[in-house]
Amino acid sequence: MVSPAIALAFLPMILTLIIRYRYYFVLFYRAVLVRWVQDCLTGISREERAFQYILTHATPGNPDSILDTFDYWCSKVEFISNIGPKKGLILDRLLKETCPLTVLELGTHCGYSAVRIARSLPVGARLYSVEMDQRNAQVAEKIIRLAGFDDDTVELIVQPSDEVIPRLREDYGVERLDFVFMDHWKRCYLPDLQLLEGSGLLGEGSIILADNVIFPGAPNFLRHARRSGLYELRVHRATLEYIRGIRDGMAELVFLGLK
Ligand SMILES: C[S@@+](CC[C@H](N)C(=O)[O-])C[C@H]1O[C@@H](n2cnc3c(N)ncnc32)[C@H](O)[C@@H]1O
Repeated sequence: MVSPAIALAFLPMILTLIIRYRYYFVLFYRAVLVRWVQDCLTGISREERAFQYILTHATPGNPDSILDTFDYWCSKVEFISNIGPKKGLILDRLLKETCPLTVLELGTHCGYSAVRIARSLPVGARLYSVEMDQRNAQVAEKIIRLAGFDDDTVELIVQPSDEVIPRLREDYGVERLDFVFMDHWKRCYLPDLQLLEGSGLLGEGSIILADNVIFPGAPNFLRHARRSGLYELRVHRATLEYIRGIRDGMAELVFLGLK
């Protein structure tokens, strides 16, 4: 048995840890515990629950309404790691400034960022969105189509990114990528960036925007972006989607061309 005196001595340290890491506890509670309980209670996936909420609360054919409803669900009901409304504004602004014609997204999940990207694209532009998880992709397909975007505007590719990137030219007729949004597993950021460099699809001025480079973090990717001499790098500071108090950031890389 631990004596009460020893337990009391540890109390300040435990309290300090709880206060210091409270936002991470909130994240664990919302992303893991609530999800597990709801999975057991409903028997359907979190992604499917999100879709059902959106289907019954948002206006079909209205991307703004789909995104607002999704944001509400993620802040008040359950957590999904969409880019979210605050970092979404950085994405919106860059898309408006650059007017890309061909966009590649790595990591579609439920299609939140795909809808966000598609609504900012100029007429005639195309988004290729890559998702390797079949069940996530099924939900994403429904959300993207519910928002009113057809296959000509958003093409969903259900395959791992490292298999898709080398085949973009041959299988999808892509000549150049104007904008790449990376939001898949962080360990894939650097290898996929190097695949993109080798593909010849990046041109001078192509933009790569990578989410979550501070939390969970992508240090090797940032190091390469900084030291390779291939990019102009800027990190946009932000906080993690739908949770206050956890610092995060997005890296914006402007490709300078191969030397
Ligand atoms: C953070 S979520 C994407 C969120 C989405 N971009 C949004 O903001 O709405 C990450 C997704 O990337 C997918 N993913 C992870 N690694 C991948 C890879 N190598 N290729 C394709 N999809 C991948 C996961 O299955 C997951 O659905």
